[in-house]
Amino acid sequence: MIHFNPESRTFNLILQSSVYAMQVDNKDRLVHVVWGPRPADGNELLSGRIRPFPSDHASFEFQTRRDELLTFGDTSVHEVTLKASFATLPDPLPDSDAPHLPIRDVRLRYISHEVVTDAEPGLAPAHGLPTVNREPRETLRIKLADPVQPLTVSLCYRLTPAQDIIERWLELENTGETPIEIEQLFFATLHLPNGTTELTSVSGAWAQEFQTQRERLPVGRRVIEHRSVQTGHLANPFFLLNRPGQAWEEHGTVYFGALAYSGSWQLSFEQLPGTDVRVHGGYHPFDFGLTLTAGARHKTPAFVYGVCDEGWGGASRRLHTFTRERILPVPQNALAERPILYNSWEATYFGITEQNQIELARKAAAIGVELFCLDDGWFGGRRFEVAGLGDWTVSPDVFPNGLEPLIAEVNRLGMAFGLWVEPEMVNPDSDLYRAHPDWVLHFPGRPRTEARCQLILDFGRAEVVETIFNALDSLLAQYNIAFIKWDMNRSASEPGSVVGKAIWQAHVAGVYGIIDRLRAKYPHLTIESCSGGGGRIDLGILGRTDQVWTSDNTDALDRVRIQEGFSLAYPARVMEAWVTHEKNHQTGRFHELGTRFDVAMRGALGIGASLNALDEAELKEYAAYIAFYKRIRYIVQGGDLYRLERLEEAEASTILVVLPDGSEAVYSTVVHSHKLGQFRRLVPLRGLIPSATYEVLDRFEKVRLTATGYELMVQGIPGDEDGRSGHSRTLHIKRVD
Ligand code: GLA
Repeated sequence: MIHFNPESRTFNLILQSSVYAMQVDNKDRLVHVVWGPRPADGNELLSGRIRPFPSDHASFEFQTRRDELLTFGDTSVHEVTLKASFATLPDPLPDSDAPHLPIRDVRLRYISHEVVTDAEPGLAPAHGLPTVNREPRETLRIKLADPVQPLTVSLCYRLTPAQDIIERWLELENTGETPIEIEQLFFATLHLPNGTTELTSVSGAWAQEFQTQRERLPVGRRVIEHRSVQTGHLANPFFLLNRPGQAWEEHGTVYFGALAYSGSWQLSFEQLPGTDVRVHGGYHPFDFGLTLTAGARHKTPAFVYGVCDEGWGGASRRLHTFTRERILPVPQNALAERPILYNSWEATYFGITEQNQIELARKAAAIGVELFCLDDGWFGGRRFEVAGLGDWTVSPDVFPNGLEPLIAEVNRLGMAFGLWVEPEMVNPDSDLYRAHPDWVLHFPGRPRTEARCQLILDFGRAEVVETIFNALDSLLAQYNIAFIKWDMNRSASEPGSVVGKAIWQAHVAGVYGIIDRLRAKYPHLTIESCSGGGGRIDLGILGRTDQVWTSDNTDALDRVRIQEGFSLAYPARVMEAWVTHEKNHQTGRFHELGTRFDVAMRGALGIGASLNALDEAELKEYAAYIAFYKRIRYIVQGGDLYRLERLEEAEASTILVVLPDGSEAVYSTVVHSHKLGQFRRLVPLRGLIPSATYEVLDRFEKVRLTATGYELMVQGIPGDEDGRSGHSRTLHIKRVD
């Protein structure tokens, strides 16, 4: 609910269990009042009587005032949401003013507000596919304007009360005749209560994505960021914040946020000396530049944020439900649950033949796979990574009869067919590059640095975006392709583009635009976002994809840690997880099949092992696990996640995923490193109905235990006490009374 009190000019945004309030002050400035949990009963309002505005003019500490939008100029000396410069002088110019330009000062004052139900942030998906929950949502749009310069800025707040989530974005408009240069632009600045200084975020690298880190914010600034045209491996654009020692996995007030954007981004956490904590999130200020020409508008993507009183777990569950219900597209005729995928990359790498793919497909179908994906190497001159990117036509050297025979066989076996592409890239050894060497990011007269032998296409050029769209469109028109693995295997360097600094946003808009057009034209199509593993995972790309490739690292024990960090923000439904070889190709470590399955079954299960190298007995084991996963996947992919034991503290990971009505659950434990001579304690469960009776079944559907929800939530499930390293189990819990 959005409420405005016209006397005190106070806004109350009331969500399920939290409130966000702000007020227009006596100088028409929009000032933050409060954000936090609220008592659950009723819709009590803050009247605006209590005005928490610190003074404007402490001598060394300007702008302690919590403006909802902090602008460069006025009295600001701290980080700002928006910096702009104007090329025109006010008319008339006071006699005492020197006419120096540009004017780098923005002051925004309240003009009006409205509540609308159909507002969308910048770069919202344009494919037209619905989301699971289509209930309209209210957006508060507050219009501010500079009293002297021709700039208006609307602050937009879209409410999803059930998950205590607000999506926030800015809409800028140049109402004058001369261009305005925007030099810094976050999507929003958040003001948190003093002392909210314990930050949980993830850092990473290729094959080590989503490593959880927890730290105390310093006084000053701490920045997490990525500077490229994709989201990046080094960090991921989300955070959890709480008072140190006052929140834990299932308890305490936790603030959380995430950016719905896949480009160069920054989240900047600022603690002022002795005062408040601010979070600025949006476009990375590094090399940022946006020219608003006369009459032009710009809408930023959304900064998604919320607060809850149920610890880090409560924050994660809100983000998961929000993503499942409000962000992920629902494709036509696709399975309601993510299908079991087979991907042949680790089986055949660049050694693809029609025959070996058909053999793999037959074995995959026999063990229960539903979607067969052909990976890199099927097109142009792409026999190795040195050539072919950009030439998206089937290679006659590999598939002399085209892809039809393989696809026909895959379909005959009852599976859907998927194809790997890397549309933003080009190898210099390709027909595309030979025809258009000027179509890549580069600075004239400078060398072009290749990474993985490839360069990035300049998506600042409309003709490049059109060429790539047409190439993918022809493939989809010609072949029965149900799934695309959209890869992106290098970071941007030498970002020279025909559109200058605007390339940082233009690239993202180009990628989103192609996907949106393809999905609109092929509404049954599903897409996986991949970038050298988990380099493009965020709430922006999830609005137009169905799942993500979590990491190229498929080592089960490394994966548990990666998946734990992933689960802080993103739901299991989108987390593609393969079972690969006994001796892992990335780490060289050996893991039992059970451990590999128990870890992969925590997400959307896929198989990446070389099935041609397995004997009948092993294939039977695969089939048995897949059949088990099919029985529990609606719980794994749609339930509420409880992290009962985190690797961070226990050297074991135990999770429980519970259907929202408490009727069924999946329990999964993996011991990462066990110290000999120590006993593991039983882990109490959560989220069940205390008075209900449950059966605990193993993967063979054998009942191992019957107990009440109360007993399971107070005591736990026996059987994992002396688990050695690598011990793992997945159990299905079912209400029986
Ligand atoms: C990236 C992906 C892999 C695979 C290769 C193919 O590394 O993450 O899964 O598709 O590219 O070149």
